[in-house]
Amino acid sequence: MSHTAIVPDDLDALRQTLSTWADSGEMDIILTTGGTGFAPRDVTPEATSLVLDRQAPGLAEAMRQESRKVTPYAMLSRAVTGMRGKVLIINLPGSPKAAVENLQVVLPVLAHAVELLKEEPDAEKHH
Ligand code: MTE
Repeated sequence: MSHTAIVPDDLDALRQTLSTWADSGEMDIILTTGGTGFAPRDVTPEATSLVLDRQAPGLAEAMRQESRKVTPYAMLSRAVTGMRGKVLIINLPGSPKAAVENLQVVLPVLAHAVELLKEEPDAEKHH
């Protein structure tokens, strides 16, 4: 099952939506798109950081690293990735092209990431 919402560039609204969704028990992964750049209204990374229990910087590092092969503007992404409880939260850039390119970078590891987060019995076998 999947849910979608359009949330304004507002720290409290983003924080509220992210924490409510993460705590709902209905989701394994939350993907955000947009609001990761340098404009003053780009506050998605700040809202995400406020709700995370743990950072998962490797995902954001990999997205920026691979995206730099596509555009130097990848350096302007301030995307944050991490966990709230057993839910993985991943910031993606706003343009559809950029969002897909970034998601493609982390997609191969997401199933295993969720297995580990949920402490599924066979998770370690996939290492
Ligand atoms: N990453 C990829 N793979 N492809 C892109 O086109 N655009 C960049 C960057 N990451 C881009 C990308 C640009 S132009 C910006 S400003 C930042 O993501 C942040 O985008 P956002 O402000 O829409 O979140």
